[in-house]
Amino acid sequence: MNKKKLLLAAVVVVLGLLYWVFHTPWVGNPDIPTGPEAIARGAYIFNAGGCGACHQPEGTDAPIGGYDIESPFGGTFHTTNITPDPETGIGGWTGRDFLLAVKYGRARDGGFFYPAMPYRTYKDMRDEDVLDLAAYVMSLPPVRNEVPDHDLPFWQFRWTMGGWNFLANILEGTPPAVSDDPEVQRGAYLARALGHCSECHTPRNALGMLQMGNEFKGSDIVSADISPEGLGGWTTEDFVGFLQLGMTANFDFVGGEMEDVIDHTKLLSEEDQAAYAAFFTRDE
Ligand code: HEC
Ligand code: HEC
Repeated sequence: MNKKKLLLAAVVVVLGLLYWVFHTPWVGNPDIPTGPEAIARGAYIFNAGGCGACHQPEGTDAPIGGYDIESPFGGTFHTTNITPDPETGIGGWTGRDFLLAVKYGRARDGGFFYPAMPYRTYKDMRDEDVLDLAAYVMSLPPVRNEVPDHDLPFWQFRWTMGGWNFLANILEGTPPAVSDDPEVQRGAYLARALGHCSECHTPRNALGMLQMGNEFKGSDIVSADISPEGLGGWTTEDFVGFLQLGMTANFDFVGGEMEDVIDHTKLLSEEDQAAYAAFFTRDE
């Protein structure tokens, strides 16, 4: 190969890589369902996904945003208004917009979200569940609430998240496999895709990427190991009681951010609480 051809090949490789890192994933554009059943299912998923913990500040009855989240890399995020207000919220959003935002952390115009929105764990949500969620959110009354921009150090450009996502896909690893028992599988879906328990309980690398091979083994936020080995002595009854009351097997009540989590797990159906327990107390 002469030099020109080599250069051309290098340019093609770099462009291909750039495309791979920055392209907007193709998710189609399915309709958002509108029936009462879809809205009811969506309300359930909104709770199971803990969306309100970040989008619905205490004392409000709609996900109007404005809740502050400290960034581990400096600065503060202000969560967005996700009521269907056309100017300050997400009025006019389509099925595609929801799938891109919730599962891929991408804005309608292709821009990147910061992983303060836990899209790295919601990525495993089923599309039908995201669309039901959208049905619920779009059925809410629009509320005008202007949320300020995030206060972040100047170097945290949104586009850098393209590279971050790319690396996270490689470096995050995969969580331990679980048996194909339907109850354990349902529990895995609840804990991993919806309840985003990993966001606080799984360790991260220096770049803030979850280390799924050590799922639930403790993090900078919570040191306790809540993997099945870590919870060794817990029975399924202990775990169900925990999801309902926030009391551990040692009779301690959890506080802080975990209290917000219990506020949503206590509203889950008994079957789903039992599924959570089956997943967390499974024999490895
Ligand atoms: C841990 C906190 C947290 C949780 C939980 C959370 N979000 Fe978010 N969400 C955010 C943050 C922070 C942003 C802003 C991201 C950005 O600007 O880069 C955001 C952005 C969004 C957006 C984009 C809105 C816009 O105007 O661009 C949507 C839609 C959204 N979230 C929906 C949801 C849904 C649905 C759930 C539940 C399945 C959820 N979020 C759970 C923190 C959270
Ligand atoms: C926003 C962060 C956050 C999320 C998300 C979260 N937790 Fe926690 N969790 C905590 C904190 C903080 C504590 C410690 C609370 C305390 O000791 O008062 C904790 C404590 C616990 C404990 C008690 C551990 C022990 O033995 O002391 C269990 C069990 C637990 N969480 C399970 C879960 C499950 C299951 C989920 C997903 C549904 C979850 N957590 C999601 C922050 C979180």
